[in-house]
Amino acid sequence: MDTPFKATKVSDHVYWVGAIDWDLRDFHGYSTYRGSTYNAYLIMAEKITLIDTVKAPFKDELLSRIASVVDPSSIDYIVCNHAEMDHSGCLPEIVATVKPEKVFASPMGVQALEAHHFPTLGEVQSIGTGESLSLGDMQLLFLETRMLHWPDSMFSYLPEDGILFSQDAFGLHFATSNLFVDENDPSVVRFESSKYFANILTPFNRLVAKTLEKVVETGWDIKILASDHGPIWRENLGEILGLYSHWLQMRPTRKAVVVYDTMWKSTTTMARAIADGLQQNGAVPVLMPLSGSTRSDVATELLEAGALLIGSPTLNNQMLPSLADTLTYLKGLKPKNLIGAAFGSYGWSGEATGQLEEALKDLKVEIVEDPIKVKYVPTNADLIACRQMGERIATRLVELAPPLAP
Ligand code: FEO
Repeated sequence: MDTPFKATKVSDHVYWVGAIDWDLRDFHGYSTYRGSTYNAYLIMAEKITLIDTVKAPFKDELLSRIASVVDPSSIDYIVCNHAEMDHSGCLPEIVATVKPEKVFASPMGVQALEAHHFPTLGEVQSIGTGESLSLGDMQLLFLETRMLHWPDSMFSYLPEDGILFSQDAFGLHFATSNLFVDENDPSVVRFESSKYFANILTPFNRLVAKTLEKVVETGWDIKILASDHGPIWRENLGEILGLYSHWLQMRPTRKAVVVYDTMWKSTTTMARAIADGLQQNGAVPVLMPLSGSTRSDVATELLEAGALLIGSPTLNNQMLPSLADTLTYLKGLKPKNLIGAAFGSYGWSGEATGQLEEALKDLKVEIVEDPIKVKYVPTNADLIACRQMGERIATRLVELAPPLAP
């Protein structure tokens, strides 16, 4: 059937029927400069099965892509691997339109879908780890992946095509018409995958490690890794698995992330002198003024860093709100293995640097320097002190971590 949106074949029996969100720039606090996709998959088995749906406004795009392959009312089963609204938002409407024989989710997924969609969604059957679903001429296997990244999260595996439907895991926010990873710029894929890991998975890194072990234990012969966001891996799967193994360890590197905001450039000038000292003694400074860097940019840089230095002037006895925002966000992400220090200018009271240091302690950052606090405008002597602090922190980083790869 001719339709406005077309499906793309992923493997012998599977089509991608999701939606591309070219406009998305913010995903509840995560800056998505490259948009995203909501991936859904149609398995053309005897029992035609839809894996996941899409965000509610994209329902018609999903139905259109399905209709390019098969009449949507032919769908027998829907499997919901993850109940978050970017994947289940249109599920009640799709169920009402398609009228499938059955809808499946993990045991926790059944509860989550009821909480999100009662009473518009009908019965959802529970299926989970170790169970299989007969699709007639093939079968679908399941592995619950609790807290990767919600309690309901689950993987589904189609042995016939060697395809793992991994919901959010191994995903990336990247709107692209090139459906496969190998058709896209590898540097963009690596960066957006790291950003996704940093902003979504770092609080659960131990569980991520256990889940990767469980996947290995299943013995599944995975040839295609089809997540719910961004392009699909069909070549060199070891690359993304290796990156996940590396990221979840959060080993320190020689990169020092300097995060700051400023009123009249005093704190900016201090940051620049600190950066000079970091560079002089072998660290790699990354300066992130919050006038132009988002909280999720900062989290991404910290995934592969060794130090976090934060700076703010004092405004009405407080740090600047942009710092408070970023620090609250980072606290939830629980970065690890960082050393750090605070700095900033002030006019008459100067509470901000102390507040910043307390915030670093809250983040479990090892404080290695007393805060540097400058009245109004830094003098040459103040800036030399800033540069020297940068040099000392760089020396620590060089002791802690090998050189960064080129
Ligand atoms: Fe893509 Fe957790 O939703």
